[in-house]
Amino acid sequence: MTAKINDLRDRMIVALDVPTIWDAYRIVSELGDGATFYKIGYRLAFAGGLDLSRQLISEGKKVFLDLKLHDIGNTVTEGVDSLTKLGVTFLTVHAYPQTMRGAVEGRADSDLKLLAVTALTSYDDGDLRDAGYGLAVRDLVRLRAQQARSAGIDGIVCSAAETEIVRDIIGPDMVIVTPGIRPAGSAAGDQKRTLTPGEAIRVGADHLVIGRPIIRAADPRAAAAAIMDEIAAAS
Ligand code: C5P
Repeated sequence: MTAKINDLRDRMIVALDVPTIWDAYRIVSELGDGATFYKIGYRLAFAGGLDLSRQLISEGKKVFLDLKLHDIGNTVTEGVDSLTKLGVTFLTVHAYPQTMRGAVEGRADSDLKLLAVTALTSYDDGDLRDAGYGLAVRDLVRLRAQQARSAGIDGIVCSAAETEIVRDIIGPDMVIVTPGIRPAGSAAGDQKRTLTPGEAIRVGADHLVIGRPIIRAADPRAAAAAIMDEIAAAS
């Protein structure tokens, strides 16, 4: 196992993609000690999710706040400074150099780890052209991974399929967090390029974000346990 992670269970991050904090609590209590790390995105963050983060942390869980911040450097610095007081483990920012430098300044010497989003996985080369970029997705991912490293960012969020390319650029010390994970036999849903938990660990991911295969399973606790077994076998 990588030296960056003390508890193997922390490699699995369960995405709490549900509308209310009550739905979230139901999942957290069903999973019990079968999950240690939860991701809270826009939907829940804007519906009581910041207070939920505090609560989960007070119960010994870790929280990944997926807020994908992006603004002028000074505003990002101040926002990140506020978030350091929440006690969350991971926070996402978009991988624009000024945004990343602002976030690193706001994080200062706190324990918060910053993750940069290089290029949204829903974007293809045509979407980037529409947005005024002259780079292909793959080249933008490489450029921004390099810039994240130079800025002092702690890790990268990328699709499981990009993990090897990103690892080559950022080296062994930064973390890689990948969504788009599907245990063999589970429905892909809207995810297009998926890897199994074992494959993702073997290509170099440190943490896997997993939503529907756990939270929509008939037996979430059993689904999480099976995924953990696969992670453990590949670690
Ligand atoms: O349900 P599923 O396992 O597909 O959930 C994956 C989670 O990871 C969701 O919260 C989704 O928003 C997030 N995510 C993703 N692809 C990205 C970035 C984040 O699926 N590129």
